[in-house]
Amino acid sequence: MCGIVGYIGTQQAAPLLLEGLTRLEHRGYDSAGLAVLGGSGLKVAKQAGRVRDLADGLPKRFGGKIGIGHTRWATHGPATDANAHPHTDEAGRVAVVHNGIIDNAAALRAELTAEGVVLASDTDTEVLAHLVARSSAKTLEQRIAEALGRIEGTYGIAVAHADFPDRLVVARNGSPLIIGVGDHEMHVASDLAALVRYTTTLAHLDDGEMATITAGGFTTYALGSIEGTGRPGLTATDRRAKEVDIDPEAYDAGEHDSFMHKELLEQPACAEAVLRGRLDERFGTGHLGGLNLDARELRAIRRVKILGCGSAYYVGQMGASLIEELARIPADAEAASEFRYRNPIVEPDTLYVAVSQSGETIDTLLAVQEIQRKGGRVIGLVNVVGSAIARQVDGGIYLHSGPEVAVASTKALTNMFLAFGMLAVQLGRVRDLSIADGKRLIAGLTRIPEQIDQVLATEADLALVAKRLAEAESLFFIGRVRGFPVAREGAQKFKEITYRHAEAYQTSELKHGPLALISPEVPTVAIVPDDELVERNVAALHEIAARGGPLVVITHESVDLGDLEGIVAGRIDVPRNERELDPILLTIPLQVLAYHAALELGHDIDKPRNLAKSVTVE
Ligand code: F6R
Repeated sequence: MCGIVGYIGTQQAAPLLLEGLTRLEHRGYDSAGLAVLGGSGLKVAKQAGRVRDLADGLPKRFGGKIGIGHTRWATHGPATDANAHPHTDEAGRVAVVHNGIIDNAAALRAELTAEGVVLASDTDTEVLAHLVARSSAKTLEQRIAEALGRIEGTYGIAVAHADFPDRLVVARNGSPLIIGVGDHEMHVASDLAALVRYTTTLAHLDDGEMATITAGGFTTYALGSIEGTGRPGLTATDRRAKEVDIDPEAYDAGEHDSFMHKELLEQPACAEAVLRGRLDERFGTGHLGGLNLDARELRAIRRVKILGCGSAYYVGQMGASLIEELARIPADAEAASEFRYRNPIVEPDTLYVAVSQSGETIDTLLAVQEIQRKGGRVIGLVNVVGSAIARQVDGGIYLHSGPEVAVASTKALTNMFLAFGMLAVQLGRVRDLSIADGKRLIAGLTRIPEQIDQVLATEADLALVAKRLAEAESLFFIGRVRGFPVAREGAQKFKEITYRHAEAYQTSELKHGPLALISPEVPTVAIVPDDELVERNVAALHEIAARGGPLVVITHESVDLGDLEGIVAGRIDVPRNERELDPILLTIPLQVLAYHAALELGHDIDKPRNLAKSVTVE
């Protein structure tokens, strides 16, 4: 969602800020803007639309070696030029960019209006610019502390002020902010993607922290209150920048037409990374040190509740199945976005698992906090190290997928499944899962990277099937039991990037309603693994075929489709693993189908309309 960049140093700020904003585009946005501070004061350019439109329309004289920039995802007010950030005070001396939401914005807007301030936008952020401008404190830092003291809500902010032309000030509460240290220059961003091209010497601000940034360095403070006065105040902290081991190439699509394609093909290597050092082949178990739970604590778990949003929720359903089957502990997954609104019962012997690629999804984060408030223990399956959810949970499993830039999640989702595989085996092995079964599953997990590679090697065939699917306005994705979350994820990926209506259904439920929609215009993608349900699944395919519904079947070579063989529009065989682990191998072709269908339709694959990479607002 919204993105922040900032620069102070020896170079012209605008081109660097525009470059940074381009690198944040994948997060999703609908307007963009810049403010630079130069010899002639503060200049602002902002508009609804793409970063390249902003770049094209930038005034010729837009010089200045200090600046801030923003990509906005509309929350308070529509995507208009006026609502784009940066926001300024009436005199145009303070410029603010902001990620997050100010909950008491309406009250503050009313108060400012009553005091005679003419507001220029519908946004919550604008109040910050006015509050900073109206403070009479001596230092910029204290003015900002006072403004922040008035607001309730979340923020990552960057502020430039014409009266303090040697600095930028940034602060964080719930929205990431990272400082990048260069050579006589400093960068700021809300996402690593905008920094790694310039520097890998980084400092992550904590919630409740502020930093003054000059061309030569930075100093940090904790936001608090001045003793005895209750007024907002600042205490110096000692945050230092650290050299971080990041491969800048990971943020570059290289020879691929999109990040999604690059990330699809990275999956075998990423899968190896999540498994590395975590499989105990001798005892047939997982070795997940980050859980912070010993065997006795693992043994005491009586239920597992998995929470995530979107694809993280669907893979959570796959995980719940794995845990129930292997550990025989009741397990289920629920959309984190719904969970906390039904006053959930939190039990001390339930293990709660929060699943999130970004570690920033607000619904998942708030669900974690609600559980913890009620005394529950939460572990995280998170990709982004040091993200809000990763820091909030009581332990967990990092996914080691590397940065995932495309909005459609692929490699992180695969690693979520593998993390669940290891967790299920480890939970099983402290219960009734035998050593032989444990070894069987550990060997199965070890085979998965190579098997993913085999599926990806069939990309050209999948592309042909995808072309046919792209023609349909509406599709079904069906599966049963282990196959149903696979179908849900397949439909999710398809609708996300092709904008086709794709609906997932339990194969067993077709007869109870949706069969009425089956026609030659509505293809069905069916998940038919060679498992205990294969005959029932094939029978359902006959029912679809009898009504003229085109079929694409994701299956195993050993499955005999009988006389359907001659009429299916596509048969995709994936390698077999252990039955419990098959879901992920059945998911990979669905990712590839969605990608090629979107390519065929000419969509912007990495930036699907209306979607953001991390959903940081409720
Ligand atoms: C699907 C997709 C979304 C995310 C969801 C959760 O491809 O990308 O459905 O899975 O927004 O995001 P994270 O995992 O970052 O919490």
